[in-house]
Amino acid sequence: MNVSVSAAETLRSALGELLDGLPPRQAAAAVERLIAAYRGSTPTDAPILRDRADVAAYAAYRMPATFEAVCSALEAFADAVPQWTPGSHTDVGGGTGAATWAVSTVWDGSRPVTVLDWAEPALALGREIAAANPALGDVRWRRARIGSALALDPTDLVTVSYVLNELAAPDRAALVDAAAGAAQAVVIVEPGTPDGYARMIEARDRLIAAGFHIAAPCPHSAGCPIVPGTDWCHFSARVSRSSLHRQVKGGSLPYEDEKFSYVAAARFPVSPAPSRVVRRPQIRKGQVLLDLCETEERLTRTTVTKKHGELYRAARDADWGDTWPPVS
Ligand SMILES: C[S@@+](CC[C@H](N)C(=O)[O-])C[C@H]1O[C@@H](n2cnc3c(N)ncnc32)[C@H](O)[C@@H]1O
Repeated sequence: MNVSVSAAETLRSALGELLDGLPPRQAAAAVERLIAAYRGSTPTDAPILRDRADVAAYAAYRMPATFEAVCSALEAFADAVPQWTPGSHTDVGGGTGAATWAVSTVWDGSRPVTVLDWAEPALALGREIAAANPALGDVRWRRARIGSALALDPTDLVTVSYVLNELAAPDRAALVDAAAGAAQAVVIVEPGTPDGYARMIEARDRLIAAGFHIAAPCPHSAGCPIVPGTDWCHFSARVSRSSLHRQVKGGSLPYEDEKFSYVAAARFPVSPAPSRVVRRPQIRKGQVLLDLCETEERLTRTTVTKKHGELYRAARDADWGDTWPPVS
């Protein structure tokens, strides 16, 4: 899955500047505290991101990864709705605004954007970083608590990125229902874990019940063919590692792979992929094994061999998350 390099680089340098004022040890300590907080008792009653040091650490450590994951989800969505461009965007639980960067990367131009979050320091920092992106000139950064009282103004696109995992079940349901009531299209991204997948499927079911059509990653709006507990649908986005990453996590690889689950759905007609590659393709001598989720609501393994000529060459280039067969 490819992402605009320039937006990623602009984001990276804006985030790098943020850390300039923060001693490396302090930044690493803030990241470690946040990792522990996220591992602990979420959902919480109060924001985990409490002050600027927390938020700068969160942004520098996690925002490049959530940005790349949301870009991947939005690109798959855009492929399924090629005639559509969001005229407005609301990012709920938007934090420092990773999804606003992703939307402005996938669809050119600027649009009115609203970012809602209960953590004021995250919104303040998001506004600061967004100044580096000319497409994010028209963003309202507003404090709001997700819960049964959440009311969203009508908008074309709602994004919910890495937020459901911080909410109790009734608040997750209230958020998805509010998004479905306000938006023409909803894109939800969660960590690519079995729990993240389960929350994504719960949201997917609610969107379908609200009359939405699934545009991606699924080739259909019927039930997911994965037998619960046996597997989970997730994808992978490559993220360049920053020096802060290397400091906190060690290791020397210049990148890491962010695993994510997602669903993208719309009220209007969509053209989902005929099938999607749901695992990393296995390249063997003279053949490629592709695990596919298909329109017929089933998972299959297809073997593409040299005998298939052009299709074989395409299979060798196919990536986890791509549509199959490739669009020529
Ligand atoms: C893991 S961060 C994700 C931020 C951003 N969407 C991204 O993808 O980078 C989760 C965000 O959800 C916000 N959040 C969690 N619970 C919330 C609630 N009940 N009301 C409003 N915001 C909430 C947090 O403050 C935080 O900014």
